[in-house]
Amino acid sequence: MSPKARSGRIRVGIVGCGNIAGPYARDIVSKRNLELVALTDLDPARAKALAKEHGGRAVPTVDDLLNEDVDLVVNLTFQGSHAAITRRSLEAGKHVHSEKPLALSSIEAWDLVDLARRLGLRLGCSPFTLMGEAQQTAWRELRTGRLGTIRAVFAEVDWGWIEKWHPAPVPFYEVGALIDVGVYPLTILTAVLGPARSVQSFGRILMPDRVTRDGTPFRIDAPDFQVTLLELEGGAVVRLTTSFYVGQHAHNHAAVDFHGDKGSLWLGHFSEFDAPVEFSEFGGKSWSPVPLVRPSKVQIDWARGVEDLALAIVEDRPHRATGEHAAHVVDIFMAAAESLRTGEPVKLASSFPSPAPMPWAQ
Ligand SMILES: NC(=O)c1ccc[n+]([C@@H]2O[C@H](COP(=O)([O-])OP(=O)(O)OC[C@H]3O[C@@H](n4cnc5c(N)ncnc54)[C@H](O)[C@@H]3O)[C@@H](O)[C@H]2O)c1
Repeated sequence: MSPKARSGRIRVGIVGCGNIAGPYARDIVSKRNLELVALTDLDPARAKALAKEHGGRAVPTVDDLLNEDVDLVVNLTFQGSHAAITRRSLEAGKHVHSEKPLALSSIEAWDLVDLARRLGLRLGCSPFTLMGEAQQTAWRELRTGRLGTIRAVFAEVDWGWIEKWHPAPVPFYEVGALIDVGVYPLTILTAVLGPARSVQSFGRILMPDRVTRDGTPFRIDAPDFQVTLLELEGGAVVRLTTSFYVGQHAHNHAAVDFHGDKGSLWLGHFSEFDAPVEFSEFGGKSWSPVPLVRPSKVQIDWARGVEDLALAIVEDRPHRATGEHAAHVVDIFMAAAESLRTGEPVKLASSFPSPAPMPWAQ
């Protein structure tokens, strides 16, 4: 750990300065315990532009960044590059927070977990959105027992046509909507209701031919519509819909509904910290708002996971968005892919340490 880290400030390097790196960098520099020191991208102009706006030094290559006095690498590269960049960073002695998914296979994901453990380094992974105010509020309501036994959960992810807004949509379609965005409700649900023990999936490509914003046609291979059924260790069953066809205009497009013997809880959005949360008694005709445990000043604080990881290093306590949890979610993706091929449910055995609620939501 660098002298800076020992004094409570963690020095951060960002690898991958694309679309989401701007919000990350903005929120990283707003944290007292984080210092943005270095940035790099395959396209040096992107790293330079981000450094100009938020500070830190743009360096030409990943190796250059790993040679800087950086404690923690924030991996914001393409989905298919995550595992390789995370591995190189750990091997260079850096803690890592990766954007999701941790890796594109279970073997790779658990290898990274083992590598970090062997080297005594922290491995964190998005999504961190369980740490949001609305999500913590929903979780606290579940912990009170107000819903009784929770037996059914419906989660909706209608994310629309990525090519309408993202300048480089192909990596998103290569992994598909389940991996790219289904990861949000899956991470929340497995954290609060237990790991998945059985996964069954149905998927179709509804709209194979797509066109980028600059007019380049491309064809997609992963389902843009998928329904996945999960049985969780705690006993609840989940129906998760993920789509890169149905858009964000759809009712409930990012909602999670928890249904218990005594009542139901509606979390209006799985990733927006200021989302509404509502409760209805079983059989009730109306929903009442549940006040957030504390107001959220922002829609999403993109550095909340990095901040928690950095504080956990300094305070010598577990961090919340762990590599183990992300690897379990990769196991769910692999099981869903196998189920698409065979039409059969797939059993899972992996687990992860349960994250702690945020101190302000306990
Ligand atoms: N865009 C969003 O709204 C959003 C939101 C949440 C999470 N994410 C996740 O963040 C990650 C990045 O998404 P994005 O939208 O910023 O993508 P992007 O394509 O805009 O940016 C990725 C950047 O990584 C760089 N890169 C790729 N491989 C590299 C390597 N080996 N070395 C150095 N640089 C490399 C690319 O040049 C590019 O600039 C993805 O995993 C995505 O799922 C994106």
